[in-house]
Amino acid sequence: MITSPPLSVEWVGGLDGLVRLIDQTKLPTELVFIECRDTDTIWHAIKRLSVRGAPAIGITAAMGAVLGVRDHADEVRDSLLNRLDTVCDYLATSRPTAVNLFWALDRMRRFARTMVESDVAAIKQGLLDEAKRIRDEDAAMSRAIGAHGQFLIKDGSGVLTHCNAGALATAELGTALAPMYVAHEAGREFRVFADETRPLLQGSRLTAWELSRAGIDVTLLCDGMAAALMREGRIDLVITGADRIAANGDVANKIGTYSVAVIAKAHGVPFYVAAPTSTFDLDTPTGAAIPIEQRDPEEIRRGFGPATAPPDVACYCPAFDVTPAELIRGIITDKGVIEPVSVETVAAAMRSAAN
Ligand code: MRU
Repeated sequence: MITSPPLSVEWVGGLDGLVRLIDQTKLPTELVFIECRDTDTIWHAIKRLSVRGAPAIGITAAMGAVLGVRDHADEVRDSLLNRLDTVCDYLATSRPTAVNLFWALDRMRRFARTMVESDVAAIKQGLLDEAKRIRDEDAAMSRAIGAHGQFLIKDGSGVLTHCNAGALATAELGTALAPMYVAHEAGREFRVFADETRPLLQGSRLTAWELSRAGIDVTLLCDGMAAALMREGRIDLVITGADRIAANGDVANKIGTYSVAVIAKAHGVPFYVAAPTSTFDLDTPTGAAIPIEQRDPEEIRRGFGPATAPPDVACYCPAFDVTPAELIRGIITDKGVIEPVSVETVAAAMRSAAN
């Protein structure tokens, strides 16, 4: 049995139920949950990173869309669909980079419009079922990514990861961490090196927490330490997650990922990205067109309370960067590994995933 954390996002009860989220801002010191009964609570939970990680954001937004329409009193179908659009437009403003957010909301809108013969009550229930399907499909995709990626992790390997692309960031095992969970389950012995991931420390607060809880050997690094470790020959493989993958294979992921890819290239360490098909955005031609979220500079100056910088110092605070496809050895998806990474191989993989 793979020991993964409690569900990061879950619908509890029937249509009159609620969305329960792990409040990831409180980890690793407290495991507490947030109960969301309205769209606004969901929007703020996404914005302040109580729920974060591209797939988990998409699932949460889909469930948030259900919360936004379920109390809509008007019995006219078009009025419900208009309300759904308003709610989805609002949720789409919570964060700009992870494409799973827009993918999930578009899927909810499209789904509602397929229920042409249904009354308002049936559409509401149908939307809840669709949101749960998005969650269940993501869980299955994370298991498939684990199955495809586990063979990259050999006995005795050192594997570096950046940020948190684990169970907390998805419906189940994660993306980058899924191959680690599966390789561990298969009895292989390896060590994970987790970058702490400044400024919000998803690596130390979340990745180190969930891997050590699962009994996986994990060692925490400050972000600037990875190159020295590579030069010592202690890292055989890098696997990170992705927030959006452009048509040419460029990958947006947590700020600092690009630096890891550059040093991996310099040391001949293979750099892999793991992501479900819902993270690919073929409408975005290259990484240059991916919108990068800028966050509050206070997250750098005093991310966790005490000041770590002069109060008024200017800060540069993008939440993500783009790693160009040429630095990526392969992309581990739920359908297999895309290797090499190019416009052609990404297009072919997405075509076969659609069939
Ligand atoms: O700002 P965050 O914590 O939402 O950023 C998360 C990441 O960058 C993850 O690596 C990415 O979403 C993949 S999660 C499976």
